[in-house]
Parts: sequence; structure tokens; C-alpha cells
Amino acid sequence: MMTTSEYTSEVEKVIKDLALGRRTPEALYQPIEYALSAGGKRLRPVLTLMACQAFGGGYTPALKAAAGIEMFHNFTLLHDDVMDNSSTRRGRASVYARFGTDTAILSGDTMLTLATQLVSEVPDTQLRRVLDVFNTMAIEVYEGQQLDLSFEHRADITLEEYIKMIGQKTGALLGASLKIGAIIGGASDRDADYMYEFGMMLGLAFQIQDDWLDTFGDASTFGKPIGGDIANGKKTYLYIMAMNRGGSDSQLFATAMALEQPELRIKTVTRLLEKMGIAEECRKAVAAYSSKALSALKRTTLGDEAKDALRKVAEKLIGRKK
Ligand code: IPE
Ligand code: IPE
Ligand code: MG
Ligand code: MG
Ligand code: MG
Repeated sequence: MMTTSEYTSEVEKVIKDLALGRRTPEALYQPIEYALSAGGKRLRPVLTLMACQAFGGGYTPALKAAAGIEMFHNFTLLHDDVMDNSSTRRGRASVYARFGTDTAILSGDTMLTLATQLVSEVPDTQLRRVLDVFNTMAIEVYEGQQLDLSFEHRADITLEEYIKMIGQKTGALLGASLKIGAIIGGASDRDADYMYEFGMMLGLAFQIQDDWLDTFGDASTFGKPIGGDIANGKKTYLYIMAMNRGGSDSQLFATAMALEQPELRIKTVTRLLEKMGIAEECRKAVAAYSSKALSALKRTTLGDEAKDALRKVAEKLIGRKK
């Protein structure tokens, strides 16, 4: 196994070789280049490459698919920032804020198709299985994103509904990243399914941590505006826990969430969440889902070295600040 930064640079090379910045019309491709050159953790393609290598035959057969998965992820971010009215990503203006909504839609569409093209560059014998996982995942993401939006207008979201929503919008992509890598690496169906479960549980932990960072993170490290979820009325893990607490605290919280003025709402809600100790609940949930993730990883037939490498990546995400 290589280091995560070595895998990352292999993915960067594939993206660079697409020479998107030289394609025309520039108005379509420059924003794509802009989005892809802004950094980002490259978590998903690294998981794909690691999963492929873990099951044998090296990581190179999965390179194009890994780049396609990162392309797909970035496509969802272009559209997500429109939907979430979010002006900053990775510490700079989001594509939507810098180039406008039309561009975020159309450059995003283009990225989705580029992603599908890249993911299709797998050996013929694996093409059908890989595309099936990829397309099933994509539909999950759209369904999850719709639930995320619909929940903005409802106050009574249950923990169960929330977990389903984040499983679809975030867990499915982490699951598919690992499963696709595993398939290309020659994993059995059983192992490929355990890898999906590993990614799904990791995704739940990852999104809960993202929810926490959105309120309690540092804007310059996180690279996204703090308080956006509260301003948008998003049903985050913090929200669910605050509402489930019951009693006067929950009543105060609900009242604060109804404040019209966004700045005042963010300030008041954040103070209440602090007072209620919701950050600790987030930490517990992240730890619990991470441990579920590791149980799934353990059930695979992978050797200890591969398991250790994947476990380390998972553990690094638990305390992430960006
Ligand atoms: C952001 O994903 C979207 C979520 C699922 C929370 P990342 O936190 O992986 O974003 P980048 O790619 O590192 O910027
Ligand atoms: C993450 O949702 C899921 C997708 C982008 C598909 P968020 O809306 O929480 O992601 P960020 O915080 O904007 O990256
Ligand atoms: Mg969103
Ligand atoms: Mg968002
Ligand atoms: Mg978020």
C-alpha cells in the first residue's frame, strides 16, 4: 500500500491529463478546472485505489474510475452550493458564487458525464458491474439531496429519517467508492458488499462530523461558511439531538431556529447548542458509526496489512477539522 498523498497525486495526474482548461467553450470548462484545482481532500478516489490494491493486482486498473468518482463528487458540490446558497468552498468562492447559477448547472452536468466516461474506462469484464454500482449510487445521492431540501421545510424530522437522508446523500458515495475499487481489484461479491458497508458507515460518521463543523468549525480551516446549515434550516445531527432532548431547552432551541434574521439565528442557536452539550453527542455518534465501519471492514477476507491501512484512513477522519 502507498501513502494517501501518493494515491492523491496519482489521481491528480489523471485529472490533469484531461486538460480541461484547454477545452472550449472556455465558459464551460474553466469553472470545471477552477473547481478541480481548488484542492479538496480527495478522500473518495483514495478509498477506491486503496480498495483495488487491497484485493490484489495493484491500483492502476482503478485509476480512471477513481478520478471519475472524484469528478462525480465535485459535480455534486457545484449543484449543492446552488441548492444551499453557499458562497464559499475550499476557502474560495464557490463556482455558483463566482460564475453564476447557469454555469454551476451546466458545468456540473458536464462533470457528471465526464465522471461517467471515466468510470466506464474499466476492463470490459467489469464494466456492467461497476456501472451498475455507480448509477445506483448516483440515484441514491439525488434522492438524499432531495430529502435534505425537503427537510428544510419540516420541523419534525426523526433520527431515523435523518440517518436515511445522510446515508443517501453522503454514505452511498463513500460506499460505492470502496465497492468499485474492490470490484476492479477482483473482490468476491461478499467482500465487495462488506466494503460498501464499511464506506456507508464511514459516510454517516463523516456527515455527522460535517454537520458539527458547519456550526463549530473554524471557517478558514473548514473552507466553508460557518452557520450555513442553521441559516438554511437544515436538519442536521445537531438539530435532531437538540429537538430530541425535550423540555424547555428544546423549546428554546425551536424558538431560536425560527428567528428571521440569519445572523441572530446563527448566534442564538449556536449558543444554545453549546449550552446543551450537543458537540459531545456528535462526537459519540461519529465514534459509534466509525466503529460500525471498522466492524464491516473486519468481516472482509482482506489481510491485516490492507485492513490496517484502511482503518488508519477511517480513523483520521474521526477528528477531522476540514
Ligand atoms: C463535502 O465533502 C461534502 C460532504 C459529503 C460533507 P468533502 O468534505 O470530502 O469535501 P472536499 O472534497 O474535501 O472539499
Ligand atoms: C453533503 O451535503 C452532500 C453532498 C454535497 C452531496 P452538504 O450540503 O452538507 O455538503 P457541504 O457542507 O456543502 O460540503
Ligand atoms: Mg447540501
Ligand atoms: Mg452544502
Ligand atoms: Mg455540510
